[in-house]
Amino acid sequence: MPNPPSTPNPLISNSQIITRVSELAREIDAFYVDHPVAEIQPLVLICVLKGAVLFTSDLIRELKTPFQLEFVRLSSYGSNTISSGMVEAPDLSLPNLFGRNILVVEDIIDTGRTANFLKAYLIDQFKPSSLKFVCLLDKASRREIPFDPDFVGFEIEDRFVIGYGLDYDEKYRGLNYIGVLYES
Ligand code: IMP
Ligand code: MG
Repeated sequence: MPNPPSTPNPLISNSQIITRVSELAREIDAFYVDHPVAEIQPLVLICVLKGAVLFTSDLIRELKTPFQLEFVRLSSYGSNTISSGMVEAPDLSLPNLFGRNILVVEDIIDTGRTANFLKAYLIDQFKPSSLKFVCLLDKASRREIPFDPDFVGFEIEDRFVIGYGLDYDEKYRGLNYIGVLYES
C-alpha cells in the first residue's frame, strides 16, 4: 500500500448527488406504484452499513413509497483500497421478511461480491416477492461476478472513491461530496 491518501479530489458534487438522489426516489416510486406496497405491508428498505448510511438517509427523505427501514452490516474491503475478495457479515440480523418486497440500498457496487452475497442470503432466508437493488455508485467495469443493479445513481470509472458515507480506512465518510484520493 502506498502512502496514506491526502486531499480528496471532487468527482461528484453535493448538488449533483442531491439532484440525482431525488431523481432516483422518483424512479423508485414509479416502479413500486404497481406493487402491493401499502402502509400495511410496506416496502422493506435494507440499508447496507456502513457506507450507504448517508445515501439512505437522503433517499428516504425523498421517497413517497411507504417503507420499513432495516439495516445489515457487511464489509468486503477491510482497511485497503483493494477488495479482500471475501464478504464479511458482522451483522445480518433482520426481522422475518418472508414474502416481502425488498429494496437493498448500497453505496457502491464494485466486484459484485457483496451484492451477490446479500441477494443469495435474502432469497434463501425470505423468498421475497420482489428483490431490487439501488446503488448510488456503480463501478460496472470492475465486476468479477455479474450483477445488475436495478437503480443506479452514477456509473463511475475504476477509481477508489470516498465521501458521502464511503470510507478509506474509516475516514472521509462525512464528506458531503464524492471524491477521489490522490497521493501527496
Ligand atoms: P464489492 O463486493 O466488491 O462489490 O464491493 C462493495 C463494497 O466495497 C461497497 O459496499 C463498499 O463498502 C466497498 N467499496 C467498493 N469500492 C469502493 C470505493 O471506491 N470506495 C470505498 N468503498 C468501496
Ligand atoms: Mg467500506
